[in-house]
Amino acid sequence: MITTKDLMMQFPDGTAIRYDDLCFEDGRSYALLGASGCGKSTLLNLLAGVLTPTSGAVEIDGQAASQWNQKEKDAFRIRRIGYVLQDFKLLEDMTVADNIGLLRLEGVDIGGMDALLDALGILKLKRRRVRRLSGGEKQRVAIARALIKKPSIILADEPTGSLNFETGDAVVRQLIENAAGGTLIAVTHDDRLAPRFDEVIDMNAIAHFDSGREAAANA
Ligand SMILES: Nc1ncnc2c1ncn2[C@@H]1O[C@H](COP(=O)(O)OP(=O)(O)O)[C@@H](O)[C@H]1O
Ligand SMILES: [Mg+2]
Repeated sequence: MITTKDLMMQFPDGTAIRYDDLCFEDGRSYALLGASGCGKSTLLNLLAGVLTPTSGAVEIDGQAASQWNQKEKDAFRIRRIGYVLQDFKLLEDMTVADNIGLLRLEGVDIGGMDALLDALGILKLKRRRVRRLSGGEKQRVAIARALIKKPSIILADEPTGSLNFETGDAVVRQLIENAAGGTLIAVTHDDRLAPRFDEVIDMNAIAHFDSGREAAANA
C-alpha cells in the first residue's frame, strides 16, 4: 500500500503543488486524469522517489519511503517499481533487446523477455535499433522494460500517449495483468481507457497550486 500525507512539492522557481492525501492499495489499478500541468507527473516522481517532497511524506507498506536517502530510494525503485516515463528514456542507438538486457547490470532477471515482447506486439522488433522505431513502438519497449522485473508497483506516465485506441487498450490490459496483486498507477489522457481501471482519480481536484503569497496570507 502506498499512502501520501500532506504531500507538497516546491520547485526552485517557487511553483508549489500540494496534494490531498491519497491511498493506493495492493491489487488495485488507478487511472490519474487531469489537465496538462496539474501535477500528475510530479506525483509519480514523488511516489517513485525521483523527487523528494518539500514537506509531507510518502509511505510504502508502512515505511517512510520519502525519508530514505537517495541510495535507498534508488535501490527500492530498481527492485520494486516499474516506471514508464513519459519520454521513454531509451538508448536510441541500442536494440530493443539490449535496452532491456541492460537491466541485468542492475541485477534484474530478464527471463521471459520474448514472451513479454510478444504480448506487447513488438517481438519482431527485438533486434532493431530503437532509433528506427515509431513513437508507439518505443512506448511499448519502455513498457516492456518496466514490466520485465515483475514489479509490485507500476507507475506509468501516459503509457498510451503515442498509441492508437486499440493498441492503447491492449497495453492497458497488459499493464493491469502484470500488476496483478500489486499496485498500478497510470496517468492517462484518454477517458475511454479509464473504465479499465479499478479507480479513476481526478487530479484536478486533488492537486492544488500554492503560490508563496497565498501561503504567507494564510499564515
Ligand atoms: N522542475 C520544475 N521546475 C518548476 N516547475 C515545474 C517543474 N516540474 C514541473 N513543474 C510545474 O509543475 C506543474 C505540474 O507539472 P507536471 O507534474 O509535469 O504536470 P502534468 O504531468 O499533470 O502535466 C506545472 O505547472 C509545471 O510547470
Ligand atoms: Mg505529465
